[in-house]
Amino acid sequence: MTATLPPPSADARAASETLAGDIAACIAAAGGWIGFDRFMELALYTPGLGYYGGGACKFGAAGDFVTAPELSPAFAQTLASQLQQLQACCPAQLIEVGGGSGKLASDLLLELERQRGLPESYAILELSGELGRRQRDTIGRRAPHLLSRVHWLEELPARFSGVVLANEVLDAMPAQLVRWHADGISERGVTVAGGRFAWADRPASGHLLDRARALAVECGINRPYLSEISLAAQAWVRQWARILDQGVLLLIDYGFPRREYYHPQRDAGTLMCHYRHHAHDDPFHLPGLQDITVHVDFTAVVESGCGEGLDLLGYTTQSAFLFNCGLADILARTPVDDTLRYLPLANAVQKLVSPAEMGELFKVMALGKRIAAPLRGFCTGDRSAGL
Ligand SMILES: C[S@@+](CC[C@H](N)C(=O)[O-])C[C@H]1O[C@@H](n2cnc3c(N)ncnc32)[C@H](O)[C@@H]1O
Repeated sequence: MTATLPPPSADARAASETLAGDIAACIAAAGGWIGFDRFMELALYTPGLGYYGGGACKFGAAGDFVTAPELSPAFAQTLASQLQQLQACCPAQLIEVGGGSGKLASDLLLELERQRGLPESYAILELSGELGRRQRDTIGRRAPHLLSRVHWLEELPARFSGVVLANEVLDAMPAQLVRWHADGISERGVTVAGGRFAWADRPASGHLLDRARALAVECGINRPYLSEISLAAQAWVRQWARILDQGVLLLIDYGFPRREYYHPQRDAGTLMCHYRHHAHDDPFHLPGLQDITVHVDFTAVVESGCGEGLDLLGYTTQSAFLFNCGLADILARTPVDDTLRYLPLANAVQKLVSPAEMGELFKVMALGKRIAAPLRGFCTGDRSAGL
């Protein structure tokens, strides 16, 4: 499959080869094997060379994949309606985690300003210095008068009250690969064989083994089952639960509840790579030049948050959430006969809500502390009972 993908430029290939050499050196230093989570972390976040740590375009038509904020400002405009309601129930402070190109921040700030509901502070927590610079440029270009309201965080705050927003962040966190088979449970990791990265399994151990055992995965003698467990994503949600004094963690991502995630028919897991709008399943292809991602187990997210004192405030599809927050009204603001504006908007809205595109696969989950009001985004179509 990867043989048919578009070739990179000579410079990009050279950077990828440097990163591959660095990862191979890490594998050698670790005794010849690293877990897949470590491989994913190095491939995505090595400063200067990793997919998010380096300079590749990534988002939008010229990049590798399109996220909801890149599709249309209608996504941020709809989210703003939920944020307005939350700002009335908890301190009007916002942290956006993993700000991507800065498109969501600029569209959100512009819409909140239009609604006379700008937050007291808007922070972006970003792992990648390169993306932080890009976010600053985007906001400076699209909402220059609001740039001074935004600041960047390099680490999680000690305490926080307000809203934490993360769109497509959990799926980008390093995940372990686990193989259930007739002889037990293995962790699938990465080694180097014949000068190339290769898969190598080891018996799973410790916390990963405990988590894997607790999942009711069906496998048999000739029916091994491969999937992922993201201990990093679970730990991240627990950390926020301890940090939040009052407020909401609003998580938007593709994924399923556990019984669908570990469905017997999903026996090859959800690991996916995105390279120039081609999706494939080879994470060893051109390290640093392609995105690597796994779907989110939303049952694990809710267990992690609620285990540390958060309440589940809502869980639904992206489509239901956006309509609950007024997407139809936003569409109606543009006259149908203004075809130059209406057609691209209608096309983007269709992608955001269609069950065949992002509408059903993407979910929105709100976990909160000391928030009494039912949230607007979940007023119809709440699926919390199915978690
Ligand atoms: C798929 S991109 C999504 C970007 C943006 N939210 C959007 O929707 O366009 C994933 C983003 O999450 C960031 N990220 C991943 N793990 C993170 C973490 N633990 N803390 C902060 N940012 C993180 C990446 O650097 C990247 O900006």
